[in-house]
Amino acid sequence: MLVHAVLAATLTILVTRVQAQAQQATFNWESLAPSDNLTWVECFSNKQCTRLNVPLNYSDPSAGTAVLAVIRTPSALNGTAAYGGPLLLNPGGPGGSGVDLIVSAGDMMAASIPEFDLVSFDPRGVGVSTPKISFFNTDIERAVYDFGVNAVDTVLNPDPVARQWAQNQVLGQLVKDRDNGFLAHVSTDNIARDMLHMVELHGDTKLQYWGISYGTVIGATFSAMFPDRVGRVIIDGVLDMEGYYNADWSQEGLDSDKTLQTFFDGCNQAGPAACAFYASSPQKIAQNLNDLYNAVDVQPVPAYSPSSNKYGTVDRATLRNALLSSMYTPYQSFSMLAQGLADLSKGNGSTIFQLSTDSVSEPAIAVACTDAVKITDKPDQLRPYAQWTSKISSFSSITAGVKIFCSGWQINPDHFRGPISGNTSFPLLVIGNTADPVTPLAA
Ligand SMILES: *[C@@H]1O[C@H](CO)[C@@H](O)[C@H](O)[C@H]1NC(C)=O
Ligand SMILES: *[C@@H]1O[C@H](CO)[C@@H](O)[C@H](O)[C@H]1NC(C)=O
Ligand SMILES: *[C@@H]1O[C@H](CO)[C@@H](O)[C@H](O)[C@H]1NC(C)=O
Ligand SMILES: *[C@@H]1O[C@H](CO)[C@@H](O)[C@H](O)[C@H]1NC(C)=O
Ligand SMILES: *[C@@H]1O[C@H](CO)[C@@H](O)[C@H](O)[C@H]1NC(C)=O
Repeated sequence: MLVHAVLAATLTILVTRVQAQAQQATFNWESLAPSDNLTWVECFSNKQCTRLNVPLNYSDPSAGTAVLAVIRTPSALNGTAAYGGPLLLNPGGPGGSGVDLIVSAGDMMAASIPEFDLVSFDPRGVGVSTPKISFFNTDIERAVYDFGVNAVDTVLNPDPVARQWAQNQVLGQLVKDRDNGFLAHVSTDNIARDMLHMVELHGDTKLQYWGISYGTVIGATFSAMFPDRVGRVIIDGVLDMEGYYNADWSQEGLDSDKTLQTFFDGCNQAGPAACAFYASSPQKIAQNLNDLYNAVDVQPVPAYSPSSNKYGTVDRATLRNALLSSMYTPYQSFSMLAQGLADLSKGNGSTIFQLSTDSVSEPAIAVACTDAVKITDKPDQLRPYAQWTSKISSFSSITAGVKIFCSGWQINPDHFRGPISGNTSFPLLVIGNTADPVTPLAA
């Protein structure tokens, strides 16, 4: 339902994207003094906010603190027998903002689960928490550095893996030189400790939590580290945990092509009036998409959308990004996708370009690579890995990019990376979708 992923260049980040509610007022977080407890003040509309000091290293108070932005939609049933206390939420990522989740979807979620105070937060380094993870000193420097949205595309680069590897050696060195010691503390085990800290500050002993997508890594990690602190925990849209902690996201693509198939089937069933990319059979639609891929290889299509300030060209990588991005929210996106594909076959790339996502999330890279074991693979090992993963689905080379991204990463502290197992004080509720584009049922 809520699951949405955003593709960040070759790094896939998995983050809930909800339909934007009416634009909410902004809130000046800096006006809130950081505190050692949860000191709530009114913020946004019907929300409460606080900034919480947390130790960077729970074993070493001298290592300093980070400040988490924490937000909640208070339960309307507080004071009644139905009141269930705080429910912590994480929308995914790594790098996803829990503050954005509550601001944009807190009211909608409260309508379904009014029993709980819906509590979320921007994890260390993310969003409006401080310090903020950022590799570059200025936006211009960031733009000049070629993160390489298309760097793994074989059409554009004869040896994309080797190119990407070299690029990531540079990034890894730059990040290490600029880091002041903060990045060693952004790993998911510390996010789990922050959640336990928040549980205790609420005066509770056990966690109530709903984590989606990468939020399942947080939930499962918490449950493995603190099995006797598991109250009610939902992990929803589950990642392959072992793969995650080894920077191997290859299995995330297992069901992607099933999701794409639902587009072919649904478009055919909807008929030409409702689906602009309609053809007489699902196979024919698949063939038409394949023809479109081949056509943009030969002639990338200009996309000029002055109304949304988006300019660029639609090539194979952009087209594939638009497809995968749409597959996270099929009910909202598939008719627009169909229109975009129909337009593209007539030479108008503006809708497909708008559907494609190409932003790079520095927090996502930092958390995913710091979480993982050190990747020492060289192009000679990464090349066959990329080839092997590209056979898992037509989207898998994107997720396989995580390992290549992490191959230059130099922040590799010792920390909890599993095993993800244990006897939890309550069973976890595990939710999976039979055709999810990035969190396959098998996980
Ligand atoms: C919360 O912390 C602030 C300072 O960080 C302190 O002034 C206040 O008394 C604390 N409140 C409680 C309930 O402990
Ligand atoms: C945290 O502190 C402990 C105890 O001093 C130390 O062993 C550990 O290396 C520190 N962790 C990090 C990531 O610096
Ligand atoms: C719930 O009600 C109690 C008692 O009035 C109050 O102290 C507490 O702050 C309320 N919790 C929330 C989340 O509003
Ligand atoms: C391309 O398609 C979009 C969306 O349908 C439309 O707004 C735009 O005018 C078209 N551009 C051209 C050059 O036809
Ligand atoms: C979990 O608990 C069950 C029942 O108490 C026990 O048989 C089992 O050995 C425990 N497993 C672990 C991994 O501790």
